[in-house]
Amino acid sequence: MDKKCISVVGLGFIGLPLALSFCEKGFQVYGVDVDPGKIDLLQRGMAYVTEDDDGVPLDAHLKKHLAAGTFIPTTEMEHTRAKVSAYVVTVGIPVHPSGGQLIYEPLDAAIDALGSVIMRGQLILLRPTLVPGTVEQRLLPRLTAVSKLAAGSDFHVAYAAERVAEGRAMKEFRTLDVVVGGLTPACTQRASELLAELTDGAIHQTDLRTSQLAKVVENVQRDVNLAIVNELAKVAQAHEVDLYHLIEMTNTHPRVQLLMPSVGVGGFCIPNAYLYLRDSVEDKDMMPLFETARAVNAGVPHRLVEAAALRLQDRGRRLTGTRVAVLGLGMKDGSNDTRQSPAVDCALAFAAAGADVRAFDPTVPRATFDFQVETMAECLESAAVVVVGAWQPEFESVPWKDVWPLTDTPVIIDPRHRLDTFLPSPQPSGQLS
Ligand SMILES: NC(=O)c1ccc[n+]([C@@H]2O[C@H](COP(=O)([O-])OP(=O)(O)OC[C@H]3O[C@@H](n4cnc5c(N)ncnc54)[C@H](O)[C@@H]3O)[C@@H](O)[C@H]2O)c1
Repeated sequence: MDKKCISVVGLGFIGLPLALSFCEKGFQVYGVDVDPGKIDLLQRGMAYVTEDDDGVPLDAHLKKHLAAGTFIPTTEMEHTRAKVSAYVVTVGIPVHPSGGQLIYEPLDAAIDALGSVIMRGQLILLRPTLVPGTVEQRLLPRLTAVSKLAAGSDFHVAYAAERVAEGRAMKEFRTLDVVVGGLTPACTQRASELLAELTDGAIHQTDLRTSQLAKVVENVQRDVNLAIVNELAKVAQAHEVDLYHLIEMTNTHPRVQLLMPSVGVGGFCIPNAYLYLRDSVEDKDMMPLFETARAVNAGVPHRLVEAAALRLQDRGRRLTGTRVAVLGLGMKDGSNDTRQSPAVDCALAFAAAGADVRAFDPTVPRATFDFQVETMAECLESAAVVVVGAWQPEFESVPWKDVWPLTDTPVIIDPRHRLDTFLPSPQPSGQLS
């Protein structure tokens, strides 16, 4: 077993850039994923994750390491047996879109597969966001049952949550601090040594439970901070003051840091954090603040629909039947991940209110949603409402002065003012509500 040979299990938005980041650090990486479609694309040099590593697209890293034989995508975990020193797992716990139930099957399956290949002396480093306690209460018993080996003595187990942001993951793998907690001090040490090969950031050692909690708490804190500003949007409107000016003035206090408003809070991480935390405790009512923050953020797309309808009404128009253009469908700026995307929620909320929705996002595969169109021109044609859902870098080279006249003097919903500098003449954009 070669120390510089590892396996990354799960090649999604996090696992793929993580695997290639290890390759860039001189590792040979077996990338394992159960999705044969993804492995086929990877073997053909096609990365399905939008990522830019200081000007180098993920595709370029992929092609380089495929050619060098340093990245080997496979569906067969068995191929990695005896070759690797560590398994780095990125398979998470998705949340059912309707109902919020946690879906453990993918992670359970990955752990069972690991149990059948793990050998003495190897490390399992878990990196997904988890319900705190999952490692001890769920994963270790499965690993022991399948492998018939003793976790902590025969092989090492540690947890170090992934903290990177999609779109700039490779850069952040190299720079961010990591919190790591092992089953034993030796497990923590072994994981720290591997992580130190990847990041120049500090490695903070703690216990297994604290490391799992820390990740979820980081996400909950962001949910609460974002909810503050999303709620303030209503307060600013009630006082008839400019929300952005209010934020600017408030942030002159050295200990205050209000965030910018948005079309909502999405992705695999922040919206799930409260659900994970709630699932980890018996008393489900102990976190009313976190629960409320979640509800405030989840309600933003609907509030934006109401705001647009009021502004149309001021112009003597109705939302029903009106063309609404949604620009960008990623769960945040620069991302092609549409899971739990507030931009998609906005499009759906406008459609549910009777609007004629068209959406354009050059990074999201066509026909993912039936309201998607092929070009910016098609999207903006006759639009009386324009919503900036997620700003994609490609939008900066759109010939705005040619396509903007296609619109119908639209109401602009652009909470982050991304569109301002691209419009041919000053527009009253950025009004949130
Ligand atoms: N996406 C983010 O921005 C982000 C940031 C930080 C942390 N995280 C966390 O990282 C984890 C992974 O997130 P993601 O966005 O990469 O998810 P993802 O769904 O994009 O990737 C998971 C991958 O695992 C594969 N998979 C499922 N079951 C498997 C199995 N049994 N064996 C091997 N592969 C299997 C899937 O096919 C998929 O490719 C989650 O816990 C998430 O919360 C995500």
